[in-house]
Amino acid sequence: MRLDRFIQRNTLHGRQACRALIAAGRVKVCTEVCRDLHCDVDSFTTVSLDDQVLQAREARYLMLHKPAGVVSSTEHDEHRTVLDLLPERLRHDLHLAGRLDLKTTGLMLLTNDGAWSRKVTQPEEKIPKVYTVRTKDPVAPQTAEVFLRGIYFATEDITTLPAKLESIDSHTSRLTLFEGRYHQVKRMFGHLRNEVVGLHREKVGQLSLGDLQPGQYRELSAAERINIFTAGDTSYDP
Ligand code: URA
Repeated sequence: MRLDRFIQRNTLHGRQACRALIAAGRVKVCTEVCRDLHCDVDSFTTVSLDDQVLQAREARYLMLHKPAGVVSSTEHDEHRTVLDLLPERLRHDLHLAGRLDLKTTGLMLLTNDGAWSRKVTQPEEKIPKVYTVRTKDPVAPQTAEVFLRGIYFATEDITTLPAKLESIDSHTSRLTLFEGRYHQVKRMFGHLRNEVVGLHREKVGQLSLGDLQPGQYRELSAAERINIFTAGDTSYDP
């Protein structure tokens, strides 16, 4: 939003008065006087008028290691939620950038920046998500080929983007997806009549859990939050 509109919306002054306040140097943006009426203000820009803060909201970006049995929603009647794993002071305005099933473990992202989470979860961004998958039956030899071609999901009327499957052992695989459809991993293996019995998300983009233990979280650095949009696996272009 433009600075003059922002001042008008957040004070009792009219349009001309707001412009005059800005021209007179009474408005600061990020602690600096700003006389540019068109200066772009977003929901995390600190803005003050006569040194009275009109808006100061810190953008937050967290990664969390979700344990099994914790639900990835912000509230639930029966189970603990991922927000319950965070200190009280961080809980109030965070939301999830993507979900994992109740039994799935691994990397989850939380933020209060709606634009960032929308971008992270958009299939068009093709951010790679890497899973370790354990299956009930041995993985059939044609599975990698089928996943690479894509599988038709009638419910959404879409074909999954080419996915990369690597064998770890007969019942364990590493699967890289470039989108995040509902129960996607289970449905892909279900298509080949194989049941997923263990699922863990290792990586999202270039982010991996590192030493983070189940139930622990940490803040992302500015570079991490930006670099998530650059391909994590440049050898593979779906
Ligand atoms: N795919 C699934 O089926 N479940 C998850 O939790 C994540 C991806």
